Amino acid sequence: MRKVGIVGAGAVGASAAYALTLMGTCKEIVLFDVAPGVAQGKAIDIAQAGYYAPQDTIVTHADAPSDMKNCDIVVITAGVPRKPGMTRADLLMINAKIMKSVVGDIIENSPKAIIICVSNPLDVMSYAIHKITGWNRNRIIGMAGALDGSRMAYQISKVTGLGASQTGSLVIGDHGENMIPLPSKVQVGDIPLSELVSKEDMEGIIERTRLGGAEIVKYLGTSGYYGPGRAIAHMVEAILNDTQAIVSSSVLLEGEYGYSNVTVGVPVVLGKNGIEKIIELELDDATKAKFKISVDSIQSGIDILTENNFFKG
Ligand SMILES: NC(=O)c1ccc[n+]([C@@H]2O[C@H](COP(=O)([O-])OP(=O)(O)OC[C@H]3O[C@@H](n4cnc5c(N)ncnc54)[C@H](O)[C@@H]3O)[C@@H](O)[C@H]2O)c1
Repeated sequence: MRKVGIVGAGAVGASAAYALTLMGTCKEIVLFDVAPGVAQGKAIDIAQAGYYAPQDTIVTHADAPSDMKNCDIVVITAGVPRKPGMTRADLLMINAKIMKSVVGDIIENSPKAIIICVSNPLDVMSYAIHKITGWNRNRIIGMAGALDGSRMAYQISKVTGLGASQTGSLVIGDHGENMIPLPSKVQVGDIPLSELVSKEDMEGIIERTRLGGAEIVKYLGTSGYYGPGRAIAHMVEAILNDTQAIVSSSVLLEGEYGYSNVTVGVPVVLGKNGIEKIIELELDDATKAKFKISVDSIQSGIDILTENNFFKG
């Protein structure tokens, strides 16, 4: 079918639909949003943009979650942003409740789907979706490293002056302030990055990648959406076309990297089954320590949900 549902037709959801339509990756894209008219208006606009795409895509909207049926992949970008006076716990609970309702509809209407979670806080929301569905972990994938990696490649390209498309990228850990960009492990073309830039440059790349999202917020007053939208489309393409692409993603660990029952960003292979394989990198002690900080920060978010009885009933 090559049918993709996108729940939340805001900035990121619509950008993903637009990117997918221009790429001609899907047969059908269905948008749904709780805000009246938003999904319908954007679906019409994007469908018309598709006239110039290499391949036709049917872009429609769903009036109700039950109208979004039998999707191969459902992308969740529904959520609310943090507002003044809202604590981290408030935001966590609000977005987790949105996940519960959205995922309940997916279980009912697209029981065989692979879910790509985009809503923040990404790693904790991905964990919540695991617990709500009880599905095999290969079918629930958090989008984080795909975007953070594109931001890293952008920073590398700015330093080297070399084309970003030939630049590798690798970011692990949480999708937040403790993310761990690993430029020392990537290549540009076939050349290790460490042979092209200085140690100081490498540090700068790490820092600017970590702050990549905040830099956009500084100028726009809101977070980016074209980059996230295209990163989602890359993951959808990898799954629908079974490309076996390596993409860092937030996944449920079951012993890998020494952790269990927590979702965190690590490199995975994406293909027709969703996560085909988790790649376990050899990490040095300093990186292991950073990874633990990342995992601990995600676990503290999961703990907030547990303390507020989110997983009960
Ligand atoms: N993982 C990442 O790399 C990444 C990157 C960017 C943004 N995000 C996150 O993605 C989410 C969306 O960001 P955005 O910029 O598109 O926000 P946005 O406010 O533009 O869009 C969110 C949309 O979700 C809709 N919505 C809310 N509750 C819903 C529900 N129950 N069902 C259906 N739709 C619902 C809203 O009406 C809104 O249109 C946010 O949580 C944001 O933090 C994640």
